[in-house]
Amino acid sequence: MGCSCFGAFAGLKKSRQSTEGQEGDSMAKMKEFSYNELSIATENFHRRNKIGRGGFGTVYKGTLSNGTQVAVKTLSAESRQGEREFLTEIDTISNVKHPNLVELIGCCIHESNRILVYEYLENNSLDRALLGLRRTTSLDWRKRSAICMGTARGLAYLHEELVPHIVHRDVKASNVLLDNDFEPKIGDFGLAKLFPDDITHISTKIAGTTGYLAPEYVLGGQLTLKADVYSFGVLTLEIVSGRSSGNTYYGRTQKLLVEWAWELYREEKLLELVDPELMEFPEEEVLRYMKVALFCTQANASRRPVMSQVMEMLSKNVQLNENLLTPPGFFQDSGQVNDTTLKNKSSESSTSHQMSSFPITITELTPR
Ligand SMILES: Nc1ncnc2c1ncn2[C@@H]1O[C@H](COP(=O)(O)OP(=O)(O)OP(=O)(O)O)[C@@H](O)[C@H]1O
Ligand SMILES: [Mg+2]
Repeated sequence: MGCSCFGAFAGLKKSRQSTEGQEGDSMAKMKEFSYNELSIATENFHRRNKIGRGGFGTVYKGTLSNGTQVAVKTLSAESRQGEREFLTEIDTISNVKHPNLVELIGCCIHESNRILVYEYLENNSLDRALLGLRRTTSLDWRKRSAICMGTARGLAYLHEELVPHIVHRDVKASNVLLDNDFEPKIGDFGLAKLFPDDITHISTKIAGTTGYLAPEYVLGGQLTLKADVYSFGVLTLEIVSGRSSGNTYYGRTQKLLVEWAWELYREEKLLELVDPELMEFPEEEVLRYMKVALFCTQANASRRPVMSQVMEMLSKNVQLNENLLTPPGFFQDSGQVNDTTLKNKSSESSTSHQMSSFPITITELTPR
């Protein structure tokens, strides 16, 4: 195994070091694992160590020989790129470090296998803590607001501080992992590059029904930072409501969470959306979080704030200028959608509710 691919890895390091100096040095920290090491760590990728399976592949919990716990992600067949392309992308991701981003510790190429090794997060993913059938922890408002803020901070870093910036493309509760103190860390950033132009990775699993995807992305393939902002808005509504973003019954009608939130907003009953498990919460702050989420999910992408503005809107005691708030857009399908349908803009079974097309403005904050 390994020789040829790690040969390629070494070659890549060398060329990067000679051309890019410092960056090459950071690349040298990237750990190359042997397949054998990861096999031992996961007890031969045993079922009992499996922690989940997503669109990119299966995730196992592993323990390295030095006792460090890791999450080992075996990428699925469709993701296989050439070694060089794979390593270039991995190099980029492993250089991205931030307290609110899951750290990529290393990788392994073995024959046709591509494996990523991440830091292991004790409290697993937000979907399990928040929406799981067997919720083990109850998340009070302080934890929930910290999760929103931390996630916003991680995204703002990817979008606005990192050069070149990274659009996550798959912001959702299962990609927000929680450490011991319930601090959030965004996982799977940068993986979009391993599956170029592949909306199907997302669509095969959720078929447009979970409500995270910005309509202009699903229907028009326009992937911009604002698609992540949209997903962040949906995620925030989930965090406040404790409900899944997908189609569910509200009363007698089936709706997406974002549709439901907008309806309640218009009826000035937004507080009804708050998770009944939240016994105590600061009403004004919670309302502000929900309104910020609505700013993020506006149909017109250019009206959505950027993540640094979102952080400001969430954290400061400001009055949002609601005159600027326009209705949300969302993508819904009939449930029969296949991948082709999702890629096909003129599909009859798909509808994008672009309920507004206001002139380009940016969210404004009115200080109190
Ligand atoms: N670093 C990690 N630490 C702890 N648990 C993890 C880690 N990474 C992933 N998991 C668990 O494994 C599950 C599957 O992760 P995976 O990323 O493969 O799928 P997903 O997030 O549901 O979908 P997607 O492929 O779109 O990211 C997650 O829901 C999470 O519970
Ligand atoms: Mg994931």
